[in-house]
Amino acid sequence: MHIPDIIIAIDGYSSTGKSSFAKIIANEFGFLYLDSGALYRGVTLFAIEGGYIDGETIDIPALDKALDTLDLHFGEDGTYIGERSIEKEIRSMEVAGKVSPIATLSQVRDFVNRKLREFGDAKRVVMDGRDIGTTVFPDAELKIFMTADPLVRAERRADEMRAKGIEVRVEDVLANLQERDYIDSHRDVSPLAKADDAIVLDNSHMNMQQQLEWLKGIIADKFDC
Ligand code: CDP
Repeated sequence: MHIPDIIIAIDGYSSTGKSSFAKIIANEFGFLYLDSGALYRGVTLFAIEGGYIDGETIDIPALDKALDTLDLHFGEDGTYIGERSIEKEIRSMEVAGKVSPIATLSQVRDFVNRKLREFGDAKRVVMDGRDIGTTVFPDAELKIFMTADPLVRAERRADEMRAKGIEVRVEDVLANLQERDYIDSHRDVSPLAKADDAIVLDNSHMNMQQQLEWLKGIIADKFDC
């Protein structure tokens, strides 16, 4: 199947398998995959390591200023700060516990959005996040909004973390993803929301192959290919 030069925007709740699905799509159709959440996680790691977070308090003016010096980018093997791969650190529970408050800050969202939009001109991009179809690429030709049962999501994410050597309890993961969903959906700037023209995918009982078949059906209908 050859699909036209489009942007595919995938949004949805935490740990619904957006990244895994987006990677499969990229592979299947020769698209570039971009994980916007990795950049929010990268800014969060930077804020933790730089001492800009003290308990619940974020030193917003200092963080805003420091962002000018942050060389956060996608590289050969995931996400980097300068030459340093931060892929493992950004997946930790510590970062997961702080990322949603950091992602409420308009300064942080502007910083990340500038980087994300640089990739849009090329089209043939699949990007996942919380506000891709609503804010980053509101004109994306195909928008998907993913959801799944919270316990299924927590179990999947715990398995994924264990496979990477990070020991976690399912109940902690569940609590974290529910907390993030709440903060993400209720923030003032670009809250997590389904775009009016997004198509909902509930993958609680679907495997990757079934999701791909579902998507191919949608693409065939929508783009006549
Ligand atoms: O993979 P998972 O669903 O756990 O989350 P992620 O995509 O890595 O995103 C981590 C966090 O970054 C989210 O919980 C949001 O707080 C924030 N985020 C956002 O605000 N906007 C985006 N476009 C992507 C992520």
